[in-house]
Amino acid sequence: MTSETTQKFYYPSEEVVKNAAVSGMEAYKALVAEADKDYEGFWGKRAKELIDWQTPFTQVLDESNAPFFKWFADGKLNVSYNCLDRQVQKGLGDKVALIFEGDKGDIAKVTYSDLLTRVSKFANALKAQGVKKGDRVVIYLPMSIEGVVAMQACARIGATHSIVFGGFSAQSLADRINDAGAVLLITSDGQNRGGKALPLKSIADEALASGCPTITSVLVVKRTGAETAMVAGRDIWADEIVAQMSDVCEPEWVEAEHPLFLLYTSGSTGKPKGVQHSTGGYLLHAILTMQYTFDIKPDDVFWCTADIGWVTGHTYITYGPLACGATEIVFEGVPTYPDAGRFWKMIQDHKVSIFYTAPTAIRSLIKAADNTPAVHPKQYDLTSLRLLGSVGEPINPAAWEWYHENIGGGRCPIVDTFWQTETGGHMITPLPGATPLIPGSCTLPFPGIQAAVVDETGTEVPWGQGGILVVKRPWPSMIRNIWGDPERFVKSYYPADFQGKLYLAGDGAIRDKDTGYFTITGRIDDVLNVSGHRMGTMEIESALVAHEKVAEAAVVGRPDDLTGEAIVAFVVLKGARPTGDEAAKVLKELQNWVGQEIGPIAKPKDIRFGENLPKTRSGKIMRRLLRQLAKGEEITQDTSTLENPAILDQLKG
Ligand code: PRX
Repeated sequence: MTSETTQKFYYPSEEVVKNAAVSGMEAYKALVAEADKDYEGFWGKRAKELIDWQTPFTQVLDESNAPFFKWFADGKLNVSYNCLDRQVQKGLGDKVALIFEGDKGDIAKVTYSDLLTRVSKFANALKAQGVKKGDRVVIYLPMSIEGVVAMQACARIGATHSIVFGGFSAQSLADRINDAGAVLLITSDGQNRGGKALPLKSIADEALASGCPTITSVLVVKRTGAETAMVAGRDIWADEIVAQMSDVCEPEWVEAEHPLFLLYTSGSTGKPKGVQHSTGGYLLHAILTMQYTFDIKPDDVFWCTADIGWVTGHTYITYGPLACGATEIVFEGVPTYPDAGRFWKMIQDHKVSIFYTAPTAIRSLIKAADNTPAVHPKQYDLTSLRLLGSVGEPINPAAWEWYHENIGGGRCPIVDTFWQTETGGHMITPLPGATPLIPGSCTLPFPGIQAAVVDETGTEVPWGQGGILVVKRPWPSMIRNIWGDPERFVKSYYPADFQGKLYLAGDGAIRDKDTGYFTITGRIDDVLNVSGHRMGTMEIESALVAHEKVAEAAVVGRPDDLTGEAIVAFVVLKGARPTGDEAAKVLKELQNWVGQEIGPIAKPKDIRFGENLPKTRSGKIMRRLLRQLAKGEEITQDTSTLENPAILDQLKG
């Protein structure tokens, strides 16, 4: 190790090391060595220890139908049982499982016993509506206790849930319902966000009206109290039906490979894909990462600020913390309401000890703290914190340092966790009591995860050289399939370029030449990461060309200080190219259109109009030029293959 690299490190304090589940770098290395030596033994041992099985498994990994891997396949279990019943049986019934804080500051606490009762009643309500093991249930709910209850209730009866983020449009909701073939939809009258009550049920109605033939009933949770139209014979108030149900619901024991959930995410081509997760392997990684990465302890108050509509909310709100018997926060609101001190006040009020959020949130709160001293974190008592986490996008070193100093008081390690919807849980991450930290690096693979950086042929590249991020061996919580599209699964994740042997993450990465630490360099496909949300450029392009005025559209990303990446669209209208006020008007119209078609998170920040797009003579859009234009860079690349160079001036913006 050179002195230069030594200086870059932030080391965990002796006390942190002493108390950590993985204590010191030697302990980390021993775990890695254990997995290298006996891969199946490593995972099998932990699956036995950490999960209560109704029927124990006899085989750890079945690779006979690779890349459709099976883990613990002949074992049977129930996730809800592992999260709730076993905590109550262990004497944790009176322990607070969830601390819910509403947008307006209303607080509700739910113990493990209460949660078990609520989940059992909800599960019985689902059964009363005819939902059976293997049926798909779509959940379109705001952050709420009911959101967690509904997910757990599905798990309890073996129904496969698919959450659709509350910010998605009617069209997106309908597409997901139809792709999943869901029989039941759970939604709410509305949601509270930033002091406003926003509708939800009416969007769900619009989705169903557009044609969702498989849905037979809709459970409606009351939240805002807004007047809500109910369709007779289809819509039922959740509280009314739940009140009539028994508070006992025997868990449905399912095979380890039974699909616990689908979660739709954007790919580089076509429509969003339904990422299918398993029961046993997924639960194992949720628990193990809670223990190793978050070092969860009985007295912790854990807060993951993600929405249950994203995978982070699945693994680190609904499943991981509860399976570990932890106390956690569920927050309905937004970080800037009533002011940008909300997160810090909540950490103070609830004595949060582990805080897990996204770089975009940190960057926006840095800006707010700089502008408004009253919401600066130093106005709050944050001494309860002992560990910080980051997820969803690269964290820039300046934001890391601010987070470390101002939120963590210089004493809390930051776990910069790299993972994906497809991976189910952390893949590359520091372990707080072991890994010396370097701001901006997600450091080293989680024990048992064999991550590598390779070239186009699948050969590992030397440290210090950038390449393609892959995973060499299957792991328990990995994606099992793309719902209904096994071919796309193989093509997307086990491409022929690597002889079908390597999991392709879709990100580029580079390992530090001295330490081997990983830094993620961003997506290598046409997926954008805007505020930690994944968006496919093709999806946005399809939405744009569906507008009556649009003839052609191309979408690219541009680096953005606040949101990581911003969406820039290049559009050719069917009529004349608009300029001045007319251009501004059409720009707004198209932004709103995309908001309606997909959801507000997909709205392009900037739209440029041209009479054409830059194309090669064979008609291919030259996206690399568009990326340069989006960044406002001079075009330095060779444009000799470009058929219409004059277009570039129009698109400069
Ligand atoms: O590009 C990587 C980025 O987010 C992508 C996965 O997005 P999604 O499936 O929505 O899941 C997000 C939450 C797990 C990755 O392919 N990403 C995620 N975490 C990090 C990251 N990039 C850099 N550093 C991270 N810690």
